[in-house]
Order: sequence, then C-alpha cells, then structure tokens
Amino acid sequence: MKLRTTLLGALAAASLLAASANCSAADTISITVRADQPGAIINPAIYGQFAEHLGRLIYEGIWVGEKSSIPNTRGYRNDVIAALKELGVPVLRWPGGCFADEYNWREGIGPRESRPRKVNTHWGGVVEDNSFGTHEFMDFAELIGADAYVNANVGTGTPREMAEWLEYMTSDSTSTLADLRRKNGRDKPWKVKYFAMGNETWGCGGNMRPEYYADLYRHYITFMKAPEGAKPLRIASGGNGSGLPWTEVLMREATKYMDAISVHYYTLPTGKWDVKGTATKFTEDEWWATVVRTYRMEWIVTEHSKVMDKYDAEKRVGLYVDEWGTWYDVEPGTNPGFLYQQNTLRDAVVAAVNLNIFHDHADRVRMTNIAQMVNVLQAMILTDKDQMLLTPTYHVFHMYKPFRGATRLPVEFEAPRHKLGDVSAPTLTASAARGSDGKLHIALVNLDPREGLAVSLTIPGATPRNFSGTILTAAAMDAHNTFDKPAAVKPAAFSGARVIQGVVRVEVPAKSIIVLSEAGK
Ligand code: AHR
Repeated sequence: MKLRTTLLGALAAASLLAASANCSAADTISITVRADQPGAIINPAIYGQFAEHLGRLIYEGIWVGEKSSIPNTRGYRNDVIAALKELGVPVLRWPGGCFADEYNWREGIGPRESRPRKVNTHWGGVVEDNSFGTHEFMDFAELIGADAYVNANVGTGTPREMAEWLEYMTSDSTSTLADLRRKNGRDKPWKVKYFAMGNETWGCGGNMRPEYYADLYRHYITFMKAPEGAKPLRIASGGNGSGLPWTEVLMREATKYMDAISVHYYTLPTGKWDVKGTATKFTEDEWWATVVRTYRMEWIVTEHSKVMDKYDAEKRVGLYVDEWGTWYDVEPGTNPGFLYQQNTLRDAVVAAVNLNIFHDHADRVRMTNIAQMVNVLQAMILTDKDQMLLTPTYHVFHMYKPFRGATRLPVEFEAPRHKLGDVSAPTLTASAARGSDGKLHIALVNLDPREGLAVSLTIPGATPRNFSGTILTAAAMDAHNTFDKPAAVKPAAFSGARVIQGVVRVEVPAKSIIVLSEAGK
C-alpha cells in the first residue's frame, strides 16, 4: 500500500496533533478529487428506505391509529413524520420483503374494523390486522414526500391479483376497481413510481430457480398495465449478494421487459446467520470484521454491473440494492422475529461506506433501500411507545443530503489498510460531488477506531474556497442513542478543513464521518 508523505503534510499532521488528542501524527493521505472529470448524477433514490410489515415498524413505528394517545396525523405518529420530513425520503419500498409474497392487497382496503386478521408467518407469528393497507401506505408516502415503491406478490399471488392491484391504485377511469378506490376514500389515482415482481424469489419468495423465475417474471410483467404516463418502472427480483448466475439468467432472458433488477446484501459481523454478532458491546476485531464484510458491497455492485453490461451496454437497466444494512442478533429479551437492534457509531460508518460505494457506481446503481425505516435492522429511527430517537445512521443520511442529485466526482487515493487475519480493509473512504448549486461536497470517513488520519485534497478542475462541515463521532465504538440519552451521538459543526494554496487539509479523527461543503461565493 502506497502512502504519499510530504513534508508539508507531515508538518500539518504534527501541528494538528497538538490540537486533537484523538489523532496521531500519521502520514498524510493525498486525495485527488477529479473535478475535471465529472461522472454520473447521484440519483436521490440511492437514499431510499424500506418499510415491511415486520416487528414494530409499521405498527407503533409509523402507524398508531387515529385514537392513539401518541400525537398523530390521521393515525401516523407526528414525531416520526417530522423526523422523516426533515430527512427527506426520496422513495419508500413496501410491504416487503418476505411479507410481500404472502400479502393479499384486498385484505388491506375498506373499513378497518372489517379487514381480515391473519398470522404474519414470516415475522414473529403475530396477528396482522391489516389496518395499514394500500390507502394507509400511499397516504403516508405522500405525507412524507416519498415516491411509492410497491412490491407485488408473485410467490402466492396470481397475475390477475397483481394487475388488479395496480388498476385499483392507478386508474382514473370509471372501472369498478377505480370506483372502489373512490368509495374507500381516494378520488384521484396514486402515482406508483416503482413496481416489483416478487421478492427474493430465490428464497422466501418461492425458492425458485432463475430460469423458472425469468419465465414467471415475463409472464407477470405482461399483465402489469397502467395508464399511459403513469406506468411504473418495472423491477425484477434479483439474486442474493453473491448470486451472479441469477443476474446472468435474468438479464439474458428478460432484459427488455425490465427497468431494473434488484440485489440484496446484509452485513453480518460474523458472516454467520446463527450467531451474527451483537449490536453493542463488540470488540475492535468485530468492528473491523464488520467493516471488511460491508466492503463486500463494492464487489457485489461491481460484479453484478459487469454481468449487466454484457446485455445492456447502454446501462438502461438499473441495479437497485433494495435491501442493505447491518443485521445483528436481536436485542436481548425482544421477539427474535421482530429483528430489533440498537444502532451505534459502527452503523454510521457502515452507512457511509455503502453510500460512498453507491456514489461510485451511480451510473448503474440508481436506487437503494436501507433495511429498514423504523425499529427493524439498521433503522433510521427507534421508538418505545410514545418516545422516539434518531439513530447514528439517520444522522449520516442527513449529513449526506448534499449528495442527492449531485454530480459524482472521481476520487483517487491510496489509504493504508487494516489487516484482519487474511483479509483487510482500507482505513479511509471518501466521496466527492458537485451539487446542483455548483458547490463541492466531500465526505471523508476514518474507519480506524483508534488512529486519526491527516488528509490533503487537491482538486484539479476547481479552485477550492473555504469549506464548512459536519462531523459525527464519539468516544466509544458502540456509542449509541437511548431513550434516556437520545442525543448521545449527534452531528457537530466541523471547522477543521483549511485551504492552503489550493490544497484542502483535514485532520480526520478516529472513527469519524465528516461531510464538507464549499462555502458560498
Ligand atoms: O429485511 C428483512 C428480510 O430480509 C426481508 O423480508 C427479506 O427480503 C430479506 O431476507
């Protein structure tokens, strides 16, 4: 691994060492931000989220009902709405996940008191009373300003059911289904921007072979009809992280019938499903193991993109990573089927690593959906009855807002690597973009939980002005927010970036995420 050390860099590092006890006088890492070689637009949908009927996500996390003592708007809790509006959610995927392939949309419309109750066989065996259905989801998506991504049922549903659901949601005609929607309280059709055929059809969605699903996809998509100008983008259910043959078969057989193919990948500290690792109280080796495993995303999007390039050189078809995030052992004492886990500074770092990877592949990766929005897996928000807190992951998504819709700028550097057994991970990840406002935005993430890093950035194609910034860090690797201390981990202003003769110098403390934005002219 090459480290470029300049005298100036070493001096800068040494002087900043005095200012920050957290940073060592390490070699300076030279980064070149190619403002002269702008890349793809970072689709805001990369910052999408996922909400499944799972645990306390929909029920309690979003929906409390109109009669709840928790302050709400038409049944949706106000604190969660406000937090999500502040964040901005470009797109929300619903109703699953595995739940999608057992979901019967007709059970989730009409008067709530007469909707059927059934067992949620995937998640905790609890009774799903269907009080949150199509109207509630679409209303919620509109309330928070998110585009709707509806995942249809292929596993147990028929093409007719799928087609009728779409007609119910999108038809402006006087058909019986459109009139039923009106009778149920929604006059105007909804906009369904994204529509997927099944979920994980290689697993919980039907244990299919790719050849079988490719045919099924072509079959179902034939009947996916919507009014002209309101046709959703068509999403095929893709492979699991490493499943390149799945992508190969689907692209070979069905490229012309799809607008995107999905892929899922979860980061487990141990890499094993029986004992995944804990969300808090982990060791430094577990921190690094998590970082190493989350970097698998780079391989996944690179390799799936290569397969897609064979059949779609123009990159018309998007690669949607519509489930990603950390997956730990559930919090002690909670329902194992509810997937409730704490969220620490390590999750913040995982989020930033993945977002930087998605930026780097913005030409193909045009949507991602972190799993999941509230109270499930790598959540943005945790609730406990009437209390709510924002997780470190929420804060990273918020800090990264300037990257949405910005033009990616290639970033060149070589960082030292941390070795863990026979694998290793870089100690730094960085991303840069030019916003639609013309300003430069730079994200720097120090993955090392012990050592600070000194960074110098040169930016051919731009004359950098002063930067203002925000930093997220904490003393402990597993620092997290609790209902007693909901602001233990929160962003702070960062003024440590200095522009000296056109070079931007930054001291990046251990285990920290910094987003810098160029000041106005
Ligand atoms: O996000 C939890 C589950 O993980 C989803 O339901 C499924 O698609 C995936 O296996």
